[in-house]
Amino acid sequence: MGRYVNFQDELKYRIDRIEEVIRKYLPPEEGFAKNMAEAMNYSMCAGGKRLRPLLLMETCRMFGGDLQTAEPFMAAMEMIHTHSLIHDDLPAIDNDDYRRGRLTTHKVYGEAMGVLSGVALLNYAYETMFRAFDLAPENPGIVKALRIMAHKTGLYGMLGGQSVDVENDGKPVSQEMLDYIYCHKTSALLEAAMMTGAVLAGADEEQTAVIEQAAAKIGLAFQIQDDILDVTSTSEELGKPVHSDEKNNKTTYVTLFGLEEASHQVEELSGEAIRLLDSLDQKNEFLTELIYYLISRRK
Ligand code: IPE
Ligand code: IPE
Ligand code: MG
Ligand code: MG
Ligand code: MG
Repeated sequence: MGRYVNFQDELKYRIDRIEEVIRKYLPPEEGFAKNMAEAMNYSMCAGGKRLRPLLLMETCRMFGGDLQTAEPFMAAMEMIHTHSLIHDDLPAIDNDDYRRGRLTTHKVYGEAMGVLSGVALLNYAYETMFRAFDLAPENPGIVKALRIMAHKTGLYGMLGGQSVDVENDGKPVSQEMLDYIYCHKTSALLEAAMMTGAVLAGADEEQTAVIEQAAAKIGLAFQIQDDILDVTSTSEELGKPVHSDEKNNKTTYVTLFGLEEASHQVEELSGEAIRLLDSLDQKNEFLTELIYYLISRRK
């Protein structure tokens, strides 16, 4: 740690760029469906760490890709993630009232619009990704990236994980099942982000597989840290309710292993991710530093 002296400045610089990209691709609030466009933008503009577009951009940079072509994918990545959050907070799922420091979308716009604007964001993500063909019609990575995004978001990715997660509220869950849940509900979108960045930059199958494995570990560590913060943080700091997992009687890494062992797992997994990335010829020091930074994140 600490090799990357200006990490905080570099992080801010990158997030500012990502915010601009996101705003550029959001839908205009106009016409009869204006209210839904507003609901879509409400949560997108509420902030958030923008981790997934950041991972996408940095992996693309690592493989020497054109960041401009990656922009629609960065915006779309955050749309898909935000869709997952809007739906995760619905009364039928985690039933939470705050997200990113604001009332949740369904609290402000009603449940019907929470459902509709969530799906609309998921769809708009694809409309946005298709715009990459206008920017770089010859890049064979675009089709590969689309395929990855579609796969990692659905039944075999995030949504599969969310379904097993919600089905097992209040039930005992084995570690094997819990790992399935985390690897899908959380790791899948991080894998999508990093693999998409890689293939857009022309990474080959072997390199992309290493990126996938590293992202899986970063995602698992990220979800365990999220469980820890649900117990140890405050709603002011997190911008979302604490003790949401307890409220829903969820089995988590914290309930299975305790806080200390859970923290230890976060460090171990992050170390494994860094070693995987180090095994590649392509380097991105900022990305390594970001993984260290996430270990001790407080929000
Ligand atoms: C929250 O993701 C959902 C999890 C997978 C734990 P983030 O913690 O990245 O949420 P934002 O985007 O910063 O709000
Ligand atoms: C959510 O896990 C993962 C998603 C796909 C949204 P959580 O339910 O723990 O996420 P938070 O704590 O509400 O952000
Ligand atoms: Mg949940
Ligand atoms: Mg939740
Ligand atoms: Mg949580």
